[in-house]
Amino acid sequence: MKVLVAGGAGFIGSNLIDALLAEGHEVVCIDNYCIGTRANIAHLKGAPRFGLYEQDLTDLDALKRVFEREQFEFVFHMAANSDIQASAKNPLVEYKNTYTTTFNLLECMRLYSVKNLFFCSTSAVYGDAMGAQVDENYAPMRPISYYGACKLGCEGLISAFTYMNGLRTLIFRFPNVIGPRLTHGVIYDFVRKLRADPHHLEILGDGTQCKPYLHVYDLVECIMRFKNDLPQGITLYNVGDETATSVTRIAEIVVEKMGLSDVEFQYTGGRGGWKGDVPVFHYALDRIHAAGWRAGMSSDEAVAKTVEAVL
Ligand SMILES: NC(=O)c1ccc[n+]([C@@H]2O[C@H](COP(=O)([O-])OP(=O)(O)OC[C@H]3O[C@@H](n4cnc5c(N)ncnc54)[C@H](O)[C@@H]3O)[C@@H](O)[C@H]2O)c1
Repeated sequence: MKVLVAGGAGFIGSNLIDALLAEGHEVVCIDNYCIGTRANIAHLKGAPRFGLYEQDLTDLDALKRVFEREQFEFVFHMAANSDIQASAKNPLVEYKNTYTTTFNLLECMRLYSVKNLFFCSTSAVYGDAMGAQVDENYAPMRPISYYGACKLGCEGLISAFTYMNGLRTLIFRFPNVIGPRLTHGVIYDFVRKLRADPHHLEILGDGTQCKPYLHVYDLVECIMRFKNDLPQGITLYNVGDETATSVTRIAEIVVEKMGLSDVEFQYTGGRGGWKGDVPVFHYALDRIHAAGWRAGMSSDEAVAKTVEAVL
């Protein structure tokens, strides 16, 4: 297939491109490097079957020209503002890079008859609801971050464009993803702080925040497996692992992997790391398990492997 990976210079997108190329597809990446980096895709320079546009997805006219030229068969929409803390200070970033990028890609898919879509949604659409009852049919949806709200808005747009244009759409709602090429988040933050001061570590919140961490290799494998033979309409899965890792446990793993000892953990206090953060989180994975998929790595294993990659 000839496919577009929008946001392909990012953490997950660049890992997905590697898998798509390995499977023999022709891949075009669009990214404006607002968060992603040239380094993430530097190894693809000059690779056969790989094309690149440095472009802002919010420029609809420019995007239309790319769609007209390239004639895609599948759009993998990985672009968004992935920095939730940044948009907590400036919601406009979310509106532009999460919501508008989605509208523009859908509009181009409509205009140029591209029928297959993968969309990265997030556990943040559920807000602070959690537990076994939070499955794909859970309602009402009440996001508590601008990020979660814009992703839920995107799902609404996708629902309408899918229905109106006969799309085959795959949506995954997943929690924190980690692994090689990670550029921000708690692991990255701890490594940076401990390199600056190997004796003290400031930890946001009280350290009991506990979330499932999914390794990017597991997520990419899941996307690659489920992208094939999609039925018309929306196919929606919660994706993740049943296990979870507390922030204090992450700190311990980072300290151990860096070969440090006698590090004093200094907690800023409070339940969440920042406003909009969901401190303890898990949701139902029955549907993806019933479809025959489970994460290969537990949350702790994913954290340990990622710390090694970051170091
Ligand atoms: N990483 C996670 O923990 C996680 C969890 C749930 C969902 N997601 C979603 O998965 C997707 C990929 O996440 P990621 O961690 O790889 O993030 P990322 O920031 O590394 O990748 C997103 C890419 O989109 C690009 N981008 C953003 N706005 C753009 C614009 N206007 N024009 C062109 N490019 C633009 C960025 O430069 C970046 O390269 C995102 O949609 C994110 O919301 C990520």
